[in-house]
Amino acid sequence: MNIKEIIDRISSTHMAEKKDIIAIIENNSNDEYLFESADNIRKQIYGKDVYIRGLIELSNYCKNNCLYCGIRRDNHKINRYRLTEQDILLCCDTGYELGFRTFVLQGGEDSFFSDSVLCSIISKIKGKYPDCAVTLSLGERTEESYKALFNVGADRYLLRHETATKSHYKKLHPEEMSFDNRIECLKTLKKIGFQTGAGFMVGSPFQTHDNLVEDLLFIKKLEPEMVGIGPFISHNETPFKDFKNGTLRDTLVMVALTRILLPHALIPSTTALGTINPKGRELGLKAGANVVMPNLSPVKFRKLYSLYDNKICMGDEAAECRKCLERRVESAGYKIVTDRGDWRA
Ligand code: SAM
Ligand code: FES
Repeated sequence: MNIKEIIDRISSTHMAEKKDIIAIIENNSNDEYLFESADNIRKQIYGKDVYIRGLIELSNYCKNNCLYCGIRRDNHKINRYRLTEQDILLCCDTGYELGFRTFVLQGGEDSFFSDSVLCSIISKIKGKYPDCAVTLSLGERTEESYKALFNVGADRYLLRHETATKSHYKKLHPEEMSFDNRIECLKTLKKIGFQTGAGFMVGSPFQTHDNLVEDLLFIKKLEPEMVGIGPFISHNETPFKDFKNGTLRDTLVMVALTRILLPHALIPSTTALGTINPKGRELGLKAGANVVMPNLSPVKFRKLYSLYDNKICMGDEAAECRKCLERRVESAGYKIVTDRGDWRA
């Protein structure tokens, strides 16, 4: 069977076998056809709409030591910061004015942000902006904690699985971090009722094509409402500083295959994709992504939230990012909508 026939079959069944995925990854001659097929599926469900999420980076303190991440605990070269409740609410005020109806609170695993601190912040945001969704991306917590955050109104939770292969996970994380716990957290989040986001890095150190297949089969089985996929980008102050970045092409292929396997998923065209290529985010949208997440964090803290080197949009005010993205989204043939942008069944 040739590659086009494989793409047609998986586009109509939304199912793929390992050998189909390997064939597509390892042969780039039909990439355009793959991206168009993903784009057609996305248009059937979400049309040309692109949802915007205002990203607020709460804190760069992190108790973890992921080997790839620039805010890992052992990076003593960065200054650490955390936003106050007032800072966060001000970011939401600015974001609301700019048309954001989802706020994403992301940060390192910082024990300062206890359940009571977070519940207070979430309640205030939901009280002031009841028409907005609150998404959290704060790592692994207990079931009790996730429930408390859900009960005060948090709508969604992003927790990338990073890699679905346990032996690969162990190469990206220190001994004390547990693959099984990460997967358990994802299942718990779904059970509680969060719109849940999984996801993975493309081209992370030691990753094989088989690992990427596992990632796709994992998300097909878990059926998360959101899937975040971005290239690995090295950071100079991490043990992975000498590893190569993930490629644009492989990341776009993973975005497209994710759209084909999970037609209803909310898939961001990530900042990391825009970092490895100036047109990366536009190309991500054309390959099946339908979300962008511009930064609402105060500019003075932006450069401290450096997960990887050369991250874009470090110096731009929220309003500039919003306008810049609008132009980019339109140039790719889509339109930004002012909407919560919930998952569509
Ligand atoms: N602490 C939370 C967590 O672990 O889910 C949220 C923050 S964490 C920094 C957000 C995401 O950044 C991770 O899930 C990871 O995929 C991504 N990331 C971290 N370092 C990266 C790197 N060097 N290249 C690309 N993505 C990276
Ligand atoms: Fe931030 Fe373009 S999205 S400047």
